[in-house]
Amino acid sequence: MKKNLLTFLSFLLASTLTVKGQSSEPEIAVIPKPAEIKTQAGYFVLPDHLQVSITNYPGSDFLLTSLSKKLSVAGIHVTHSSQGSISFLLNKNYDPTIGDEGYSLSVSAKAIQVKANKPAGMYYAMQTIFQLLPKEIESKAPVKNIHWKMPCVNIVDYPRFAWRGLMFDVARHFFTKKEVEDFIDNMAMYKYNLLHLHLTDDEGWRIQIKSLPRLTEVGAWNVKKVGTFGNFTPPTPDEPRNYGGFYTQDDIKELVQYAKDRFVNILPEIDVPGHSLAAIASYPELSCTPGAENYKVRSGESIMNWSAHGFTAKIDNTLCPANDKVYTFLDKVFTEVAALFPFDYIHVGGDECAKNFWEQSDAIKQLMTREGLKNYEEVQSYFEKKVEKIILSKGKKFIGWDEILEGGLAPSAIVMSWRGMKGGIEAAKMGHQVVMSPTTFAYLDYMQGDKVIEPPVYATLRLNKAYEFEPVPDSVDAKLIIGGQANLWSEQVYNTRHLQYMVWPRAFAIAEAVWSPRNARNWKDFEKRVEKHFARFDEAEIKYAPSIFDPSFSVSTTATNELKVEMATEVDDLDIYYSFDNSFPDRFYPKYTGPLIVPKDAVNLKVITYRGTQKIGRDITMPIEELKSRLPKAKK
Ligand code: ACM
Repeated sequence: MKKNLLTFLSFLLASTLTVKGQSSEPEIAVIPKPAEIKTQAGYFVLPDHLQVSITNYPGSDFLLTSLSKKLSVAGIHVTHSSQGSISFLLNKNYDPTIGDEGYSLSVSAKAIQVKANKPAGMYYAMQTIFQLLPKEIESKAPVKNIHWKMPCVNIVDYPRFAWRGLMFDVARHFFTKKEVEDFIDNMAMYKYNLLHLHLTDDEGWRIQIKSLPRLTEVGAWNVKKVGTFGNFTPPTPDEPRNYGGFYTQDDIKELVQYAKDRFVNILPEIDVPGHSLAAIASYPELSCTPGAENYKVRSGESIMNWSAHGFTAKIDNTLCPANDKVYTFLDKVFTEVAALFPFDYIHVGGDECAKNFWEQSDAIKQLMTREGLKNYEEVQSYFEKKVEKIILSKGKKFIGWDEILEGGLAPSAIVMSWRGMKGGIEAAKMGHQVVMSPTTFAYLDYMQGDKVIEPPVYATLRLNKAYEFEPVPDSVDAKLIIGGQANLWSEQVYNTRHLQYMVWPRAFAIAEAVWSPRNARNWKDFEKRVEKHFARFDEAEIKYAPSIFDPSFSVSTTATNELKVEMATEVDDLDIYYSFDNSFPDRFYPKYTGPLIVPKDAVNLKVITYRGTQKIGRDITMPIEELKSRLPKAKK
């Protein structure tokens, strides 16, 4: 009775008082959007001493410790009790609606109740609870003068897909074990359950293979260069090869456990037969042209010729499918990889394999004659089928990029479709399982706004486009699309702050595409929630791209050959102000209301966005010459 009275009083207080320091009423802005959500009146106010009951879950310590750690910021002391005001119950009778990862969450003024079939559901309910609390819960330092309360709500939530992935390229630039753990923490907050680690490439081999020590003695190290990766000056012999690193097998075991505690599986990728210069620098006999090159791990110098009609390698960065030593090598690698990663799948890459050195190889010619292979795609397919057998012999499933389709797909292969959705559709029509991770919607290494303001990359993917990601095309059997994934390639990502900038907010969009019901998508509603999460990231000091607040530009010419510029923003309640006189505009400058004709002698268009009286975008200087260069060729 006394307890009830106290709860009631604190509820009254919470509903009526404005407390200094309380930045805003907590609003419901959960990402990814829950499957079903019913808001109720009132709030649950967290007491200073929070009792938590966890029932039927023997391994519940991690949940309790996580709650306790998070709520310590609020000065709230968490203890276990059989009569907690927060209760987590692991269902004895399986509830098919919520499945293995779902949960139900009921927040009333008196209590918070969570039910789940499996521990993963409890963990995801906890993430939702955190998101219902004020943003200050994300602060690194203790926060005082806050009403620690959350809105009353009933949620029933479960994922749309079992495979909710983020790929992290730790090969182009090495990231430490701690940095990978931080990445896992952030992805788990948004209910991702799959970390795809791209562990090998031309620039580094990042996993210790005990039977092949040179892979990390030689293959993990290159020359440190900064600037725009891809066109660095080739290293000279005297430049130290001390940039890079690798994970020892103990590191990998710790990472696997760290991820498992957060209900994340790790998918290891060993990218073969292309992208293999680090392996070849370690063991040159693995290429079709051993001894022809002084192989060195790439330091970001140009090694490929890319063109609209295909590509070739300037240096042989491919394993030789005609060489038995390659399969012995891969057997050793996959034996150790399979033993380290409990996840059912191993990713074998297969992308962007240049064939020009194979074309010159007598060993490949003999292989083609012997095996009746008609072209070099069939040579790669021959290779993939042999690798598939190795993977299956280790008790694992074989997954690769969509190039593994070319020349004939290995019987049990799972395809990760990256060159658009096409490869995935083709594979699904052949009855193969597919993970969709198309460049068009899910490439986190692309720029998020205009190239005049973003760190340069060769393509752009804005948040509103990422939010359109729909993993299941109409034309295929939906059961074969096991999920979706966003990929962070790290050629231009040198540190974790920039990594965060590239991942967020687009990983919010992809999280919603792979978790929330298809019909729950609503850009305007999502964008509002994104802004709430920006505020949470500000508290957490996690970097994100503010590019949604900056305009996009399109350019054309009038009938009288004047240059015409149109601007738009992804967020619809912003105003754009501009100048052509080289000064920085603010909200007292002309407001953009429609297409602009560029004055004849203008050198720059400068723009800034506001929401009402508040400056929100970044100062952008768009050179007129740059605009002219974007005109269709005939119009320049
Ligand atoms: C890829 O982006 N090369 C898979």
